[in-house]
Amino acid sequence: MADAEVLRGRMVEGLVRQGELDERWRAAFTEVARHEFIPDLVWRHDPDAGGLEDLVPLRRCDDPQGWLERAYANAPVTTQVDDGHPIGEGGCGFEVTSSASMPAVVAQMLAALEAQPGMRVLEIGTGTGYNAALLAHRLGAGNVVSVEVDPGVAEHARHALVAAGFGAVTVVSADGAEGYLPGAPYDRVISTAAVAEVPYAWVAQTRPGGRVLTPWGTPYYPGGLLALTVHRAGTATGRVVGPASFMWLRSQRIPRYTTSQIVRGEDTVRLSTTDLHPWSVAGDTHAATAIGLRVPKCETFYHPESSETGTLYLVDQWSRSWATLHLTTEAPYEVRQSGQRALWDEVQAAYRWWLDMGKPAVEAWRFTNDPSGQRIDLLLSDEPSSDASTAVFPRDE
Ligand SMILES: C[S@@+](CC[C@H](N)C(=O)[O-])C[C@H]1O[C@@H](n2cnc3c(N)ncnc32)[C@H](O)[C@@H]1O
Repeated sequence: MADAEVLRGRMVEGLVRQGELDERWRAAFTEVARHEFIPDLVWRHDPDAGGLEDLVPLRRCDDPQGWLERAYANAPVTTQVDDGHPIGEGGCGFEVTSSASMPAVVAQMLAALEAQPGMRVLEIGTGTGYNAALLAHRLGAGNVVSVEVDPGVAEHARHALVAAGFGAVTVVSADGAEGYLPGAPYDRVISTAAVAEVPYAWVAQTRPGGRVLTPWGTPYYPGGLLALTVHRAGTATGRVVGPASFMWLRSQRIPRYTTSQIVRGEDTVRLSTTDLHPWSVAGDTHAATAIGLRVPKCETFYHPESSETGTLYLVDQWSRSWATLHLTTEAPYEVRQSGQRALWDEVQAAYRWWLDMGKPAVEAWRFTNDPSGQRIDLLLSDEPSSDASTAVFPRDE
């Protein structure tokens, strides 16, 4: 049985082999013991648990080696479900609310942060404290401030950081959307929770020339890793620099629901057909990013029935509008729409717009954050496109 050091060595070698670990972060990944940050109780998906609450507990005392191997696998480890109060029968969980992110993703984000030793960093979403420890290892523990909204999670991280010799990291239990003013200004802000709109406090608390890095997305699609550069006038501009899919920042979380709560009202359904394959609108990062920006408050998910058939759902849970597209082995596919919004029509129109614009990539969207909020414009050349005003992400709807 491999011990922690051997497993850690393998994890690091694997990341290096796959080109996922920037050389400058190698020492931190080698010397910070990830398992020391993972709580004794973790969670795993169990397809046999039945139903939607399929997250079951895995206790270190029941399977110490399995627990350790999980700590060093290149995979996320779920460390909290349902904000600490599992809602399923028999203590099963529904939603992941805290985790240690996948090591390859942690490495990718740290590389994209472009931080240097000695820089001051604000992390949003302390979670286990592992990422804060990596930052502390390279930048100096006194330069790291980390904010965690869940007091119990923050407390665990604080203890783990002290035990690992990084007690000088400041762990704050608060809403990270406010940043942490007493520690400002920062050279870098890194969020490990996703946002639809970057809280302006993160920009305001960053030095000119500094960087704000956060997973960003729309309800429709997790867009990617957004990197903003902060300018003198208190504005920040940037774009998506890579893929990322994270749990939402708590204040921007999208309420969970079951399909049967929304997809009803069959008597008012409007029927039509389409030749458009669901993957065109939901499987392509670039198309889905554009659609998500042009069709606000619309979530999408796919329920497969077989390898070739299934149902694509579009849901606006706020207006309780929904649409389904039933994928069969041959087009045309049946579309059902219900509610005040015709979500399929909106999605289809947004997809056509994306085609007409020359299929802009996710990197073509330019983000601007200032005290008035966030704007997202499509840059087809050096200037915002004439259609940019229609592509602004809605803030108050
Ligand atoms: C993916 S986990 C963080 C992983 C962590 N960086 C690590 O190394 O283990 C996301 C964390 O963000 C926290 N979070 C969510 N909303 C937050 C908010 N508004 N302020 C601070 N933390 C928040 C969650 O409680 C969760 O612990």
